[in-house]
Amino acid sequence: MKSEEVRKKFLDFFQDRGHAVVPSSSLIPDDPSVLLTSAGMQQFKPYYTGDADSDKDFGSKNTVSIQKSFRTTDIDEVGDSTHLTLLEMMGNFSFGGYFKKEAIQYAHDFITKELGLEISYVTIFEGSRDVPKDEESREIWNSLGVTDIREEGLEDVFWGPTGNAGPCGPTTEIYCKYASGEDVEVWNIVFNQFFFPGSREELLSGKSKKKLEPLESPGVDTGMGFERLMAVFEGQSSIYETDLLEPIVSKIKELKPGLDEKVVRVLADHLRSSCFLISDGVLPSNKEAGYILRRLIRKVIGYEIKYDIHANLLTEISKVVVEKYGHIYKNLDEKSVSLVLEGEKDKFKTALSKGLKELADYKKLTAKDAFRLYETYGLPFDLIKEMAPGGIGKSIKQSDFDKEFERHQKVSRAGAEKKFGGHGLILDTGELKATNKIELEKVTRLHTATHLMQAALRKVLGDQVEQRGSDITVERTRFDFTFDRKLTDEEVKKVENLVNGVIEKDLPVNFEEMPLEKAKKTGALYFFKGRYPLQVKVYYVGESLDKAFSKELCGGPHVERTGGMGIFEIKKQQAVAEGIRRVRADLKTDK
Ligand code: SER
Repeated sequence: MKSEEVRKKFLDFFQDRGHAVVPSSSLIPDDPSVLLTSAGMQQFKPYYTGDADSDKDFGSKNTVSIQKSFRTTDIDEVGDSTHLTLLEMMGNFSFGGYFKKEAIQYAHDFITKELGLEISYVTIFEGSRDVPKDEESREIWNSLGVTDIREEGLEDVFWGPTGNAGPCGPTTEIYCKYASGEDVEVWNIVFNQFFFPGSREELLSGKSKKKLEPLESPGVDTGMGFERLMAVFEGQSSIYETDLLEPIVSKIKELKPGLDEKVVRVLADHLRSSCFLISDGVLPSNKEAGYILRRLIRKVIGYEIKYDIHANLLTEISKVVVEKYGHIYKNLDEKSVSLVLEGEKDKFKTALSKGLKELADYKKLTAKDAFRLYETYGLPFDLIKEMAPGGIGKSIKQSDFDKEFERHQKVSRAGAEKKFGGHGLILDTGELKATNKIELEKVTRLHTATHLMQAALRKVLGDQVEQRGSDITVERTRFDFTFDRKLTDEEVKKVENLVNGVIEKDLPVNFEEMPLEKAKKTGALYFFKGRYPLQVKVYYVGESLDKAFSKELCGGPHVERTGGMGIFEIKKQQAVAEGIRRVRADLKTDK
């Protein structure tokens, strides 16, 4: 397998040049302003701004990684020769270690010497109102014998920021040729010289009052799509022919011969992405990352219906994906992936097929119709656009569909407010809900009890216990965690006793604020699906953070001391999914 050889070459090349190898982070980023990890630099954001110290954390100012990345913006392009929703991004990074000269030299040497490939041309930044033309990069490329150097603008060769603020700067890109003769961008080398306190849209609009601020020490962030590089390296004409995707493509063709090539590619991409998303903890839902996953899966199901595919694509392909990638991404798990995929299919196949049948009868289609089809049958927008008869869906704009969506959400929110009879929620963190002061006191006690319970579960059952969800109402706390069997009565008792022991000891509950990276290193528990800001609170129960019975990243609120919280009791336990258990517990008090 050539990809394995190149994977290793890449990491070795940079390790030999003083880079610390850092594993890929999850597709669910720590940064609450970003839905999914879309670049290798995502996990390194705090190192550019000086909020974290790379020397301390990695033993070097320079790192190298191969990061799984998800690009929502490329969904519509999937099926051509270069775009995927999920890609593996190879990258080297420097946080004040080196800058343009080394970054360009490394990339040049890796492509031309290490892999023996030819560079077609490179791009440099042409300059903008606030940032001068990148003459320095031009000179470096020239000195390396690269002469086809093209200038481009902000839109194409200026990276970032990701989310609502972050590092950004001009880039230089390397283009290579596919066997077909097509030039493709393989490597993007970013010079993070600035911090922009707003989003990329604001930056590009040219209207924002916010200004680019120079970073104290400029950094390097490079990204090379592994699949594209492999297509060039293997002398292919598309990413789907590389040994990274070819096994998936072949399996689909074997299961349903004669499908259109584009359909095969979309299926291959969406199935592969779904496997990775699910393994990182995304579940299909109607919002945020869950909605993206849902769109991917429903598109697959829609294709199964439309093209009359009877083979079980979801299960068959997840096997191939796990076989191909399981040794690198150890959390890829065939069983949980196919459970989620099958679950979504069972729930929606009938509705989707009804919806598609109804859609087939339309003569004209508006954004309102599209939204109704989505609401009634769960047909995602892209599927409607694509499957509407005679191309009548093509002209509906995503923005009009989104407007319908928002209008609908406003109506349901108004409904929810009415339900609370004007009191409204005085606390709604998503996890905790209370409508008055007495309820607030109760859910606060239950919240602290939930932290104690998680610590106790880990002490009794071991470290494989990890939070998968939590919901606290005035009646009870509900907590989901990874564990693959029923707890024995004895274990339940032990957990209760541990928690009640801490309550009896009347321990103080406090928090310390610190940068996210540091917080994780204190051993504090955090919810892998949680979306934490760069500065977080670590709540701990006990006399000090070091000696705490429980410590967790959390926004509060909590009781001040554990005494008088009540008697903790586990009321119920059940399985919610393969390997995931749910317990409900309550505090008995005379209050
Ligand atoms: N962040 C840049 C990109 O994703 C370079 O890694 O293209």
